[in-house]
Amino acid sequence: MKTKTQVGIVGAGPSGLLLAQLLHRHGIESVVLERQSRDYVLSRIRAGVLERGTVALLEQAGVGERMRREGLAHDGVMLQFDSRLHRIDFRELIDSSVMVYGQTEVTRDLMNARDASGGLTVYEAQDVTLVDFGSDRPRLRYIKDGESHELECDYIAGCDGYHGVCRSSVPAEKIQLFERVYPFGWLGILSRTRPLDEELIYTSHERGFALASMRSHSVSRYYVQCTLEDKVEDWSDDRFWDEFRLRVGPEVAARLETGPSIEKSIAPLRSFVAEPMRFGNLFLVGDAAHIVPPTGAKGLNLAASDVGYLSRALIERYQTGDARALATYSETALRRIWAAERFSWWMTSLMHRFPETTGFDRRVQVAEFNYLSGSRAASTALAENYVGLPH
Ligand code: APR
Ligand code: PHB
Repeated sequence: MKTKTQVGIVGAGPSGLLLAQLLHRHGIESVVLERQSRDYVLSRIRAGVLERGTVALLEQAGVGERMRREGLAHDGVMLQFDSRLHRIDFRELIDSSVMVYGQTEVTRDLMNARDASGGLTVYEAQDVTLVDFGSDRPRLRYIKDGESHELECDYIAGCDGYHGVCRSSVPAEKIQLFERVYPFGWLGILSRTRPLDEELIYTSHERGFALASMRSHSVSRYYVQCTLEDKVEDWSDDRFWDEFRLRVGPEVAARLETGPSIEKSIAPLRSFVAEPMRFGNLFLVGDAAHIVPPTGAKGLNLAASDVGYLSRALIERYQTGDARALATYSETALRRIWAAERFSWWMTSLMHRFPETTGFDRRVQVAEFNYLSGSRAASTALAENYVGLPH
């Protein structure tokens, strides 16, 4: 069957759904094609710290209501090195804050808004294929319930994540990839327990990194750095809690409420950027174009800022015919992406134990922590990046 829309969006993660919603609010029609089922998309547990700019975009998209009600505003974050704590006070340093609200909830709110808008989202769309995206007649082919479909569109937004089809449809000679793979992963658990603290605690310890985070006043999210060889099955809940306690030290551990895990998974850490992000009428957005290690909680926020740039450029194009912002989308987005890549890499390097870490390297990490603790300038630099650089 042949159909037509203005913007064909591949992927119903936060990038694709947020883009669809912002466009809809300006009268621009889109179709979203998603490989997985809706329940599958909602079952993925990801980070949950929203920058101010992300919160503003979600508000603009008309999905801020539950986030305002249930999200937790955090005015600071704690860093801990070998039992010494230092608080980065966003409010005092830069009069700002972040919002703790899970990506899964953001996705759920966006899905509900999409339903209410009447826009079409095709879940379980198989074999999505991009056709002639370099021309002025781009199309998306896919199979749904055994039937072939062709969707003609003005533009294609590749919001299909790191493993998606959009980036891999670009001829190798037209794209440049930059990557750093870290020699460790994060083992994460979710539990129905009271959060350890009112704020997040990032810990660097001789045994490795640990993070105490949360989803609400009654659901916590914890991580410990693990090796790339570790398997989830190797980590009973007891082993996890024991290791976590050792890393955060007795004082912080005394406040820890433990309980059975309701989710447990291991994620490798990677920095990755694809350049450029525009190929004719195909635009890459979010994880399809870049990955950051989770240490600065930038993944979702970077996806949101890409969507911010692309939606504004498309709105301008449809409202005034001016395609200049579309032409510079890649450049504009990449500038901010590299700033967040740098910060995520820096925070990862500061907080983790690398297999090759020597006594020298550890002392340099500790010296950096001492500098952060003693210097308002250094703390301010961290705060500015953590709450998010301007869009
Ligand atoms: N066809 C259709 N859909 C696809 C295809 C395909 N070939 N390949 C992937 N997808 C879908 C995935 O199933 C997923 O639902 O694209 C969606 C991409 O969503 P995300 O991976 O969540 O990426 P994005 O929307 O850019 O969100 C970025 O997700 O991974 C986190 O840290 C990251 O928080 C950040 C956010
Ligand atoms: C999370 O809550 O899952 C989380 C928070 C902060 C991070 C990474 C993950 O830096």
